[in-house]
Amino acid sequence: MRKVQFTETVMRDANQSLMATRLPYADFEEILPTMDKAGYYSVECWGGATFDSCLRYLNEDPWERLRNIRKNMPNTRLQMLLRGQNLLGYKHYHDDVVEKFVELSIKNGIDVIRIFDAINDFRNLGTALDATKKYATKHTIASGCISYTQSPVHTVDKYVEMCKELVKMGFDTLCLKDMAGTMSPYEAEHLIKGIKDAVGEVPVILHTHCTTGMAYMTLTKAIESGVDVIDTATSCFSNGTSQAATETLFYACQQYGIETGLNEKVINQVNDFFKPVKQKYIDSGLINPKSMATDSQALVYKVPGGMLSNMIANLKDMNAMDKFDAALLEIPAVRKDLGYPPLVTPMSQMVGVQAVTNVLTGSRYKNISKEVKAYCRGEYGASPAPINKTLMMMALGNEKPYEGRYDDTIEPEIPAAKKYLGDLAESEEDVLSYVAFPQQAEKFLKERRNKKALKVTYTIQEAD
Ligand code: CO
Repeated sequence: MRKVQFTETVMRDANQSLMATRLPYADFEEILPTMDKAGYYSVECWGGATFDSCLRYLNEDPWERLRNIRKNMPNTRLQMLLRGQNLLGYKHYHDDVVEKFVELSIKNGIDVIRIFDAINDFRNLGTALDATKKYATKHTIASGCISYTQSPVHTVDKYVEMCKELVKMGFDTLCLKDMAGTMSPYEAEHLIKGIKDAVGEVPVILHTHCTTGMAYMTLTKAIESGVDVIDTATSCFSNGTSQAATETLFYACQQYGIETGLNEKVINQVNDFFKPVKQKYIDSGLINPKSMATDSQALVYKVPGGMLSNMIANLKDMNAMDKFDAALLEIPAVRKDLGYPPLVTPMSQMVGVQAVTNVLTGSRYKNISKEVKAYCRGEYGASPAPINKTLMMMALGNEKPYEGRYDDTIEPEIPAAKKYLGDLAESEEDVLSYVAFPQQAEKFLKERRNKKALKVTYTIQEAD
């Protein structure tokens, strides 16, 4: 019997897409033992923006969150999303940080590490992959992930080649990551068939979002075309900018006679549990009804929904909404000049800001952002297609871009962080939190120490 398995995203991507990753651990702890019986392929519960959000907004230790999930879900594969050499942040880190981060992620409970790079420069995946293999347990899976986008250089053949390359590098599974939700059913069919033909037994996973309204059609076509795993969210945390609904796709699979391994009663219990949680955040305003709706504009402009709303906010701030149409038209031009990078963090911000700047100054690349210059220098890796020559000249002048791997020029970061933190860091995990997000982690660690100091005083008083 054909099998399609499910990755449940409620704790990571659904949380990130619908409520800016502000779901506290305490809000889902109680359901974890039940979720452990659902029969998911995996639960995506860590990485992405969760780490930053724990430290910045929730006053939670992200490592402790992971250990607690592990403790309450001993039988389910726990999955994280890792931005390759960027880890969970927005800059490139030294290899020592990447290796340690992967080691401790596995040690604290992660089984599946899904590793991607914004512009699909696979040199940015190598260190994380090697570390995953080095510290792997018998449950560990290294998943090679491709940022999906549409452009003249992103053909089906190109994606098939990328997948072959990832398999050759040693990844155990392959994932197509359609963060903007712009993959059509037609494209899914050709991609999945092409990839499955080329890589044989290697499991292929499709990750998409409902943003433009196509996800259910796209996933259905992917299922018909041989996909092995799909990412879905429990139905009350599905749709809009989130994933398609777990129970709905489960139902569809049943009608196809496809085995899913899911326990119907349990997945319904999971949804029942999260309904009041969602309502609480709708009432508090943290879940914006807009993020729950379908926005087909992304299909017209080829721009992810979040990027569009960011651009509108920036233009409004500058009292320049009359430039909106011009800025929108400028985006494809800037993206082309930059060699068609997929519009995912940090490229979406870079392209959006540059397009707005070009329109506001009335002259293309008169002002070039620090980030775009770094991209031209090769600090993010190699662009999918060559960068426009005029732009290169304007950004770098006579400076030469990096020929090798930029990350080889970064100094080791862990020794300095250890020295700086002293006894504020109680573990290697604390040191890594600091390297990843210095300000947020330092504040968190200081508050934790103060809280402990208070506790000690209290105990002594009580002993009197
Ligand atoms: Co996503």
